[in-house]
Amino acid sequence: MESLKVGCIGAGFIAHFQATAMTMVRGMELGGVYSLKGAERLASFARENNLGTCRICSSVAELCQHCDVVALFAPNYVRLELVEQIADAVRGGAELKGLICEKPLGRTVAEARRLVELADRIGVPNAYFENQLHMKSIRRSLAQLAPQQEVMGPIALARSAEEHAGPHEPWFWDPTRQGGGVLSDMGCHSIAVSWYVLTPFGRPVTYLQPVSVQADIALLKWGREPYRQQLRERTGVDYSRTPAEDFCTGMITFRHPETDQPVKAQFTNSWMYDKQGLRLFMDGLGPGYAFEVNSLRSPLEVFVGDAAAQAVADAETALEKATASRGLLAVQPNEADLYGYVDELIDARDAFNQGRDGLLNWRYGLEITKLCQAAYLSAERGQRIDLTDPAIQNELETYSSLIAQGRGGEILF
Ligand SMILES: NC(=O)c1ccc[n+]([C@@H]2O[C@H](COP(=O)([O-])OP(=O)(O)OC[C@H]3O[C@@H](n4cnc5c(N)ncnc54)[C@H](O)[C@@H]3O)[C@@H](O)[C@H]2O)c1
Repeated sequence: MESLKVGCIGAGFIAHFQATAMTMVRGMELGGVYSLKGAERLASFARENNLGTCRICSSVAELCQHCDVVALFAPNYVRLELVEQIADAVRGGAELKGLICEKPLGRTVAEARRLVELADRIGVPNAYFENQLHMKSIRRSLAQLAPQQEVMGPIALARSAEEHAGPHEPWFWDPTRQGGGVLSDMGCHSIAVSWYVLTPFGRPVTYLQPVSVQADIALLKWGREPYRQQLRERTGVDYSRTPAEDFCTGMITFRHPETDQPVKAQFTNSWMYDKQGLRLFMDGLGPGYAFEVNSLRSPLEVFVGDAAAQAVADAETALEKATASRGLLAVQPNEADLYGYVDELIDARDAFNQGRDGLLNWRYGLEITKLCQAAYLSAERGQRIDLTDPAIQNELETYSSLIAQGRGGEILF
């Protein structure tokens, strides 16, 4: 079978991470890139790593003409217009085998629903990229504990956290462009992976029914001086005027449809985790069994003393969002694999070659958007949100959080 030619829209942080992951995947290559910035750098990465010719395209239409799969690796606030351009290209004769969208699918439920409608109209298989469900450590834990789940009963509590010291690009910090703060940006990961962990092994990813959500959000670091000023100087985003939350936590209750058993997913996310760097933490607790994943535990440790610290050029070569370059450092030898990017590409490759959606499709992305938005609603009202109430479901269709509207000051200060 011929290699699938993937065309990237966007050539920033995630495009490079995915390109690194692609070097570990057979049957996929970088066919092209269309990006406002960074296209040259991504194309040279492709050349240096035998990842294909990676044609630099000057429009979405040109990219669609030269690739089999288009991957949306551009910021959240340009999703809709880019997918509309893909729809135009397909209407104009481009033959695509697959469409990929990075998390979060939409910044609101309405936006995510519009994207699903566009994908239906485009009519090619799609995949929603949520890497944490594909992490080998998560997959192995669930497979290893499948017999225990069968005999003892399902996992009843899943806890999940993704935390670091804050995003790399200014647009992430701007709630009106990104769609919120850390809940919108990283809560979507933790909510999705917890839902998956609680799902009985082998069942569909939306098998468990969401019942309720109770959440809290706060601005614990970046709204205070001198950090607020530092953020303004670094990103141009002023948290005295348009703040977003840098911490969120919450609990989602799900119900097993056959037994009615309630199970709980607890999520915690922050942009004020001033420790080694990115930390993913997940655990699952069932009756008599459990698992735990902590991405900061590495088999590799490096030590850099004060005298040698100046020689370290870039702390992030050790770990994503690393904040220190001396002392005892956790170094992850293969982050693209650890975080699940390799396996999510393999899933998309196999699905598109067979003419079907990936394990996670855009409809699933819409469900995750709904849960995130319900969490914002809960935090705004200081109430538990009943997800089984048709009036709430209706309200979520047009809901836009105060944070996303740029009115975060009304609840964060
Ligand atoms: N799965 C993950 O862990 C993960 C990690 C980081 C980012 N993401 C997601 O990936 C997406 C991109 O994030 P990023 O960190 O790579 O952002 P980034 O800012 O680093 O890169 C964005 C790229 O898109 C380009 N771009 C901007 N507007 C464009 C337009 N209109 N047309 C074409 N190109 C355009 C920029 O020039 C840049 O190359 C976001 O949706 C983000 O949520 C996911």
